[in-house]
Amino acid sequence: MILGTGGTIAGRAARAGDNLGYVAGQVNVSDLIAELPLPAGAMVDTEQVCNIDSKDMSDGHWRALARRCQQLLDDPAVRGLVITHGTDTLEETAFFLSQVLVAAKPVVLTCAMRPATSLERDGPKNVQDALVVASAEGASGVLAVCAGTIHCARQVRKVHTYRLDAFSSGEAGPVGFVEEGHVRGVTAWPQAEAPKVRAERLPAVDQWPSVGIVMSHAGADASLIDLLIGAQCVDGLVVASTGNGTVHAHLEAAMERARSAGIAVLRATRCADGAVLSSGGGDRWPHAFDLSPVKARISLMLDLLKARELAP
Ligand code: SIN
Repeated sequence: MILGTGGTIAGRAARAGDNLGYVAGQVNVSDLIAELPLPAGAMVDTEQVCNIDSKDMSDGHWRALARRCQQLLDDPAVRGLVITHGTDTLEETAFFLSQVLVAAKPVVLTCAMRPATSLERDGPKNVQDALVVASAEGASGVLAVCAGTIHCARQVRKVHTYRLDAFSSGEAGPVGFVEEGHVRGVTAWPQAEAPKVRAERLPAVDQWPSVGIVMSHAGADASLIDLLIGAQCVDGLVVASTGNGTVHAHLEAAMERARSAGIAVLRATRCADGAVLSSGGGDRWPHAFDLSPVKARISLMLDLLKARELAP
């Protein structure tokens, strides 16, 4: 099953030579795959979950997508899922799904860096590659496929604004490659994690905790965090920290005030590679290890949701 959510892969421009002045999320997923050669023996159906620019992805879109994915995964007739998605928040949707789905079958997100109307469109090949992965023996869990490279949900990150090969798995390296309709180089498919909150148990989005991100940087001050505390608009805060999870002294003072106000605070590193390593003396603040700030935000939101679920 291919689920469409929009993105540049479904984008339309007025001229075939225009790779930048297009509107994302215009073409239906059924039209995207209409003339696509399918892997041998594959039967493919499509469904449109939404058709948006992924910068506008919302909790509501995620909830609808996750619940539909789980229904389909539970259907014995479904071998795997492909999700067409915008590149801009693909890594967030992939990580979110990896934290809420029981995915013994593959869920493969794919995308494009050129719109569907472009002479250089990369969407069709990416969808074909995603279908190859979704039907590969042994594949399971949430994966992303772009430019012939397979990434896992935890590591994948958009690292380029324009290149067709816009994603990286950083120092962990990719899961493998798709070449001429075959998967190569996969030593082990990533094991699907146990869901933090099961998709079918996700409450209405007005009950989801609100978690914001504040960045520590040279010249940072306490004002943003103090405004958030005053407005009582967040339940959690991820601090995108410098290096190995360090935070500007002015910000750290405000983090203390946030914690006293009942806001959960989590550090994640701004560095693209590496992880926050605990110091020998124990951490004053919890950290998200190797998760990027945007993925740490999802992790904290689901932790808070789970805590609410467990609360008497
Ligand atoms: C989007 O993320 O929906 C637009 C950008 C893209 O898909 O490359």
